[in-house]
Amino acid sequence: MPSQRITPSRHLKGMPVIPGDKSISHRSLIFGALAKGQTEISNLLESGDVQSTARCLRQLGVEIQKVKAQYIVQGKGGYSFGSPSEILDCGNSGTTMRLLMGVLASQALKATLSGDSSLVKRPMKRVADPLTLMGARFDLTNGNFAPLTIQGNHLHGINYELKIASAQIKTAIILAALNAEGVTQISGEIHSRDHTERMLTHFGGKLDSRPEALSIMGGQELKGNKIKVPGDPSTAAFWLGAAALIPGSEVLMENISLNPSRTGFAEVLKRMNVQIKTQITQLEPEPIGTVQAFFDDLKGVKVTPDKVPSLIDEIPLLAVLATQAHGTTTIEGAEELRVKESDRLEAVAQNLRAMGANIETRPDGFKIVGPQKLRGATIESFHDHRIAMAFSIAGLVAQGETEIKDAECVSISYPQFFETLRELTR
Ligand code: S3P
Repeated sequence: MPSQRITPSRHLKGMPVIPGDKSISHRSLIFGALAKGQTEISNLLESGDVQSTARCLRQLGVEIQKVKAQYIVQGKGGYSFGSPSEILDCGNSGTTMRLLMGVLASQALKATLSGDSSLVKRPMKRVADPLTLMGARFDLTNGNFAPLTIQGNHLHGINYELKIASAQIKTAIILAALNAEGVTQISGEIHSRDHTERMLTHFGGKLDSRPEALSIMGGQELKGNKIKVPGDPSTAAFWLGAAALIPGSEVLMENISLNPSRTGFAEVLKRMNVQIKTQITQLEPEPIGTVQAFFDDLKGVKVTPDKVPSLIDEIPLLAVLATQAHGTTTIEGAEELRVKESDRLEAVAQNLRAMGANIETRPDGFKIVGPQKLRGATIESFHDHRIAMAFSIAGLVAQGETEIKDAECVSISYPQFFETLRELTR
């Protein structure tokens, strides 16, 4: 699937089935691997990134099997993985690499982690730094990048102030803290997605969670459990966004994660005038429910830095929506987008300009004044799944045909994306 062609659509209607949440899928496999006994995961996301985590865990001696529709993980009952004989290839997945750094830092082994041409350009010192303070030893390429080698060591708890609101860094520290001596306290920017904190409790672990700090006691034993992975809200976002753009549209999605640390995009859509209805059907261990969106005229919106972590992966799509909204949309405090699978601020700007739109980029965000007409263009995906999907949605409201280059990258998080797009716009 080298490139995909998108033509304008007159409406979008249906009830797409949304695959499992990517963040929760990675964590299910990792917690299952560390726990005592068996973990049964249903609705695990079957995508490139999650396969990277499963592949690395298998290389570390963890047994993971698919039995009918479930994934069964035979837990190691602690931090006792085997030394990998080869490099652990994390593919395109930052979550795989960063979470495994936390898992491996305290184990009596040496491992080298690497990834594809995008992952080796992404910063890893931000994870290695706190783990080094705990006693782990890392050798990073040029001091910041993969390939990186971990020499596991006996760890001790630390007090650490997080400077970046990143769930991946927070999770790496929590995963290391569980096998460290004493207590680890994390303060600062801790209000990113909280799936790790919730899953820890689900596996029988303890964590003291206060608004200003998280405390984790070392030496905890986790117990295998059953997990049903909810639908990924960052995937559902594409259909909410498309429904908001195309007159006469309506979509309804069930079993979607409504975790408040992930609902930022839906909240911004409401502020943009989109009719969104949500209904919670389950609260524990993760809030899950139904989401419905209908077309309405969009208006511009201001997104402040405090909201960015709750919609970090949806910002490229938000930029596309902003071109069709009346008034000004601004995003601030989104500098992290520059170190995702691509520099997403540049990728968005380049592709919107190719479609004839104006966008003012800033080091930490952008300003878009709408509405603006989009015309079909050749879109550079930069092999970044979220760029490919956001601009496919742009293609639905552009004049003429849009070509998405290297479109196979959608398989990183949503392999069925184009198939579902065709079904919904038929
Ligand atoms: C993720 C956290 C976010 C997000 C990524 C998945 C996670 O990254 O962008 O897609 O599963 O913890 P950061 O923690 O680096 O912001």
